[in-house]
Amino acid sequence: MSNLAALREQFEQFKLQGLSLNMERGQPADANFDLSLPILSAVDESNYQTDNNVDIRNYPGGVLGLKEAREVFCQQLRVDKDEIIIGNNSSLDFMARILSWALLRGVINSDAPWVGQSPKLIVTVPGYDRHFTLAKALGFEILSVGIDHNGPDMDAIEKLAANDPSVKGIYFVPTYSNPTGDSVSQAVADRLVSFKAAAADFTIFADDAYAVHHLDDNPPEFPNLLETAKNHGTQDRVLLFGSTSKVTFASGGLALAGMSLANIDYWSAALNSQTIGPNKAEQWRHVLFLRKYPDGLTGLMRDHAKILKPKFDCVQRVLNEDLGNLNLATWTNPLGGYFVSLDTRLPIADRVVSLAREAGLALTPTGATFPDGIDPKNCNIRLAPTRPPLEEVEQAMALVTCCIKLASAEYEAAQS
Ligand SMILES: Cc1ncc(COP(=O)(O)O)c(C=O)c1O
Repeated sequence: MSNLAALREQFEQFKLQGLSLNMERGQPADANFDLSLPILSAVDESNYQTDNNVDIRNYPGGVLGLKEAREVFCQQLRVDKDEIIIGNNSSLDFMARILSWALLRGVINSDAPWVGQSPKLIVTVPGYDRHFTLAKALGFEILSVGIDHNGPDMDAIEKLAANDPSVKGIYFVPTYSNPTGDSVSQAVADRLVSFKAAAADFTIFADDAYAVHHLDDNPPEFPNLLETAKNHGTQDRVLLFGSTSKVTFASGGLALAGMSLANIDYWSAALNSQTIGPNKAEQWRHVLFLRKYPDGLTGLMRDHAKILKPKFDCVQRVLNEDLGNLNLATWTNPLGGYFVSLDTRLPIADRVVSLAREAGLALTPTGATFPDGIDPKNCNIRLAPTRPPLEEVEQAMALVTCCIKLASAEYEAAQS
């Protein structure tokens, strides 16, 4: 039997198993959510008053969020307790508000709203589809730059932004990026906060969604973008975002935004015109829950890692065992975050995704990691192993490697 025929046969065996697997979206597993179940009973009739005597039933409390919540969650974005705003439910919601306001009213250093200036945002590719969708829906033109183990491609960023004042900022993930797992290095962080952009109001929208999502017990020390910017006197350029979506409940917790004190003034005035304040009940129960959790936020993230790490280890093991010496693909081996990014050597990503679907495995659609939905090399596949149980990750990965081998063999056969 030829290699191609043998691979087809192997693939048919997968199909016969009637699998129904999903590694499409980066969602926590139920076991991760279970860690936070006590949140649901953390607040009751006896404790609706905060330490600082804010009654969570009534309006007063302010737009910045509860003092106690700011004290707990400032550690997630590694900012001071006065440098954080705690908002509702999800970081995308917060980012959408801030980007919309920037369009209509500008940011702290703007002398005019962005909307009349044909605004452009730089994004990193491969990247997070919802960043692209949001920026595009708001009318930003998107400019793509690459990302590697040092973070975004600074040469490309400087080339785009140094002479064009309509390039208003960069929207990216600084730590354990979606999907590559890459984190910004200190050298790149220094350059990013200090390079001379043509736009005086160039802004770094740093979506630090995975800032505390380490897989390792001894995570590396990552650069602190706000501190780095302070060292260069450019702290107003940096806006950090995060949420508790992958800490407690997805889309059911708190949004976080970290920034300089001047930005706190600017953005709290902007928020003040839109809301009397965020959901204090949610904030208070997060605080009470984490107070009781052994070792607080750090302990909770360590427990998340215990559930997630075996799944990421499984992905690496199967990829190494099945594809290690075949020169068919390269892949990232992240120390944190929610994804593994795989690049096939041949332009076959769409075929791999469609074969996998045929055999019962949903993968992120090809092109989703690129702004226009088109992967120019048709090679990038985002693997999201967090949600399925470990046994299913194992099954799914065996199918993924089979599809990569089969699609590669089909491609080579069609070329010859
Ligand atoms: C980089 C990044 N930012 C934001 C989100 C969504 O966060 P939230 O639920 O806070 O909107 C995700 C989810 O996958 C993500 O990968």
